[in-house]
Amino acid sequence: MKRISVLTSGGDAPGMNCAIRSVVRSAIGAGIEVFGIQRGYRGLFEKDFIKMDSRSVGGIINKGGTILRTIRFPELKEKKIREICYKNLQEMGIEGLVAIGGDGSAQGAYALYKDFEFPVVVIPASIDNDVFGTDWTIGFDTAVNTAVDIIDKIRDTANSHERVFIIEVMGREHGALALDVAVSSGAETAILPEFPVSMEKIIKDLEEKKQKGKLSSIIILAEGAGKAQDIAEKIQQNLLDREVRYVILGYSQRGGSPTAFSRQLATIFGFEAIKMFQESDYGKMVAIHQNQIIRISLSEVVSGKKTLSEEKLKLLETMAI
Ligand code: ADP
Ligand code: F6P
Repeated sequence: MKRISVLTSGGDAPGMNCAIRSVVRSAIGAGIEVFGIQRGYRGLFEKDFIKMDSRSVGGIINKGGTILRTIRFPELKEKKIREICYKNLQEMGIEGLVAIGGDGSAQGAYALYKDFEFPVVVIPASIDNDVFGTDWTIGFDTAVNTAVDIIDKIRDTANSHERVFIIEVMGREHGALALDVAVSSGAETAILPEFPVSMEKIIKDLEEKKQKGKLSSIIILAEGAGKAQDIAEKIQQNLLDREVRYVILGYSQRGGSPTAFSRQLATIFGFEAIKMFQESDYGKMVAIHQNQIIRISLSEVVSGKKTLSEEKLKLLETMAI
């Protein structure tokens, strides 16, 4: 293989730049030319390629976001759009594609692999940690740390005013980010799409804890399990003697300098992706499972569903007694 391409797709995640850096430098080290594709699959469709060299990925190891930019491009679900993407790759003499992104991006790469047997390798990167087949995605650890940092500050107000705070975190329909943020910030509980809980139970728990002397509370809400404002209003209507507030952490969770863990994961994944091309091992995602770097077929990735540990939720609740 002489020439490959790399793109970032889906929501930006801290560490995507480290992954681009690793792909580019590992490839160049192996004598493979690299083209960056700007704005994910839309750039592939619009033939927006840029030649990359070692210097073009200098000074980005500590930068959040993605220098290649990213955009949602649902049009890729159409075969006729993918045909144009494939034609563009062929015209550029590109023999492989590294797609850095979440589960949707993996589906896009798999579609190109299935339709044209085009050699693709996926690197999982998403703050949601919702990609089946890998224990960790690039950016998740950073997002957890960012959210915890902000919640530590909100805790000061929660304590001083004896308030209940509902804090909404991202994660789409998955609760992994919310659960890890809740455990790490010492929250009362987490409201998660995977383990529905009634409002009655939440309110009863808050009342019981107040009897035990807990005057302030932080509840983490996964965006896929409801809206912070609605939940705060319902709690407020029932807890008349407490002030209830809500905060939506939003895009602050997606930005910022990647943690050392996100950087290392990205660097190792990028290096492994190039090894996969050298070994003609395509149609796969590089992943980490039980601390081992593994390769998993994209057909498994796109058909699997990541589950969440109920034990961890129990751990959270035990810590909050
Ligand atoms: P993420 O990769 O973070 O999960 P998205 O779900 O938005 O983000 O997916 C990123 C991109 O991947 C989409 O904008 C689209 O271009 C492509 N994609 C997603 N799902 C599919 C699919 N089923 N078939 C083909 N392409 C897809
Ligand atoms: O997938 C990452 C993510 O940040 C989700 O947590 C969130 O639901 C979504 O992207 C937001 O997407 P957008 O950037 O299109 O608003």
